[in-house]
Amino acid sequence: MTRALVVYESVFGDARSIAQAVAEGLFGTVPADVVAAAEAPADIGPDVVLLVVGGPNHAFGMPSPSTRQGAVDQHGADIRDIRTGLHEWLETVHVSAPHLPAAAFDTRSGEHRLIARMDHAARTEETLLRRTGAHLVAPAEHFSVAGTKGPLVEGEQDRAREWGRLLAGHVSGAAAAG
Ligand SMILES: Cc1cc2nc3c(=O)[nH]c(=O)nc-3n(C[C@H](O)[C@H](O)[C@H](O)COP(=O)(O)O)c2cc1C
Repeated sequence: MTRALVVYESVFGDARSIAQAVAEGLFGTVPADVVAAAEAPADIGPDVVLLVVGGPNHAFGMPSPSTRQGAVDQHGADIRDIRTGLHEWLETVHVSAPHLPAAAFDTRSGEHRLIARMDHAARTEETLLRRTGAHLVAPAEHFSVAGTKGPLVEGEQDRAREWGRLLAGHVSGAAAAG
């Protein structure tokens, strides 16, 4: 059966909540699996008809081993293995379908519009998605958290569900039918 795959990295749970809400939005059209990058498959087969990836902004970009260590040291985060996450997974994953439809999101706590504009986690995710051969079907989406450890700003999960419904429109009719 065909399916969508939502792969996330999340330190405090907010990007995971967004990933789950995106999957709920997709679900009316196509079943979606939500997987942490650390547990995501090394190969994406032809059963996957849409790939969505997302995670937090750390130091204006995607999390890296040093920012994950910073999250542990400065914010008491519980991270099983700081060496691996979404960036590392996207660098090694093999996507078998050519031009697999894909999209990226990130979460951020920066409220100031100018500072938020400097954040580029989702931009890097898009670059890495393109390198896998995936085809971006929608602009990256950004979701806000109220503080470093969250929670998500009110309404962001609804917005993520709506974005999921929009992305589902890019799954071809035959694929959506399973
Ligand atoms: C080490 C570290 C660096 C961060 N840098 C930024 C940043 O540059 N811009 C920003 O908006 N938020 C930044 N944040 C806040 C994160 O974006 C926020 O913790 C994240 O979006 C919450 O998502 P999560 O619960 O899935 O981890 C940072 C957080 C940590 C722990």
